[in-house]
This record gives sequence, structure tokens and C-alpha cells, in this order.
Amino acid sequence: MEYLGIDIGGSGIKGAIVDVSSGQLLSERLRVVTPTPATPQAVAGKVADLVRQLNWRGKIGCGFPAVISHGVAQTAANIDVSWIGTDVAALLGEASGCPCVVLNDADAAGLAEMRFGCGRGRTGNVLLVTLGTGIGSALFHNGNLYPNVELGHLRLKSGIAERYTSAAVRVNEALGWKPWSKRLNNFFVQVERLLSPELIIVGGGVSRKYERFFPYLETQAELLPAELRNRAGIIGAACRAAEQQS
Ligand code: BGC
Repeated sequence: MEYLGIDIGGSGIKGAIVDVSSGQLLSERLRVVTPTPATPQAVAGKVADLVRQLNWRGKIGCGFPAVISHGVAQTAANIDVSWIGTDVAALLGEASGCPCVVLNDADAAGLAEMRFGCGRGRTGNVLLVTLGTGIGSALFHNGNLYPNVELGHLRLKSGIAERYTSAAVRVNEALGWKPWSKRLNNFFVQVERLLSPELIIVGGGVSRKYERFFPYLETQAELLPAELRNRAGIIGAACRAAEQQS
């Protein structure tokens, strides 16, 4: 079965047609730049462009960087505040002319890693953490997702975790791998205290360079770099479209 998966992020909107039984991409992976300001209308227009370019006419699954409840955005940490209260599923559905289901972006990436990536067949408590502009998180117990877990918003030092130790913070503050890892360790200590994961999967663009910082991390849990890289969000969103009524 084929579905279109879309991953909306702070810098890019990515999409591809996905075979949800194998997790393989059946089209090229398209990327358009996220408009600034990233208002609901502007983003919906870009999503509609992407759907047209891929000549897609079926159901769409879309990962979105906010708490999503029944298709509606409840938060807006790294996106335009006008998204709060917006029915993202309805808006994107109208703009594209295709039925659309929406879920949190990290939850989408986690679903894909659990099904087709390094979380395959793993039971117990598994946590995926994405390190990007913000910090995304997806929590699984015996393969079942507990949605909208916002660990990037845990209180850490004088602010929240994602303003202290996201991948963007490492770049913006020109932190070396070791001092950045020290911050990550502070984050993981809190996370492990709360959730006792057996496996932590680390995703986001920086996970490609895991050899640079994994040696400094001191988690109790096993630590693995995400396997599906920048396809995870697309694949997981398409899987959700296959499973959820819109
Ligand atoms: C948002 C999350 C999102 C994460 C990664 C955070 O700022 O609150 O919902 O998953 O960024 O995009």
C-alpha cells in the first residue's frame, strides 16, 4: 500500500511516496524550503505544491513539530505561534485536496524506527530522541507509542532542555563535542530518572556524526544512532496515514 508521507520542519518540508509494508520510498524525496514566516497559510501552500509535484491523489500522513491532539496543534515552540489551535489536518487537507492525518514529527520518526529501523523487534521501554533545532521525543512500550511526550521541554539549568542542548545550540554556541555531550548527559540523567528506557535511539541530522559524541555519553540505557536518517519522519507519517481514519 502506498501513502504520501510529509515531514514539516523549521527549515524544510520534505515528502515522498512510501510503501508502508516495506518502509521503502517509491518516489524521490522532495524538499522545499519552509517559508518565513511559517504561517499556516504559507506552509499549507508549500505542502500543496509538494503534493502536486509528486502528482499525488491519495491519503497523506504528515509529521508536524508540535503537540498534536485530534489533528489540532496545541503548542508552537519552533514554529509560528499562529499555529496554536489550528486544525492542521483540516488545513492541509483543504489546501492539497487530499485527506490528511497529522501527528507529532518525533512520534512519526519513532514509528518508522520501531518498524523498519533500529527499534525493530525491541520490547520494553524504548525512547527516540531527535536532536535538531529543538529536541523531539517519542516513547514506546512494547512497540506501542505514548504520543506527544515533550522531553525537549523538561526544565534544565535555567531554562528548557532544547534551549540548552539541541543540535542547533551546539552550532550556535560553537560548543565542542565534549562540552555539548556534557549537556546531553545532564539531559539524559533527567530522562532516565523519569522513564527508565532500555534503549535510547538518537536521531536528527547530527546522529550521522554519532561517533563524535556517543563516546562521551554515559547513559544507563543502550544507545543507538537512528537508522533511517532523514527518511524516518516521512516513512512514519505515511504509516500513520495507513492506520488512522482521517
Ligand atoms: C516541539 C516538539 C517537536 C520537536 C522537534 C519541539 O520544540 O515542541 O513537538 O517534536 O521540537 O521538532
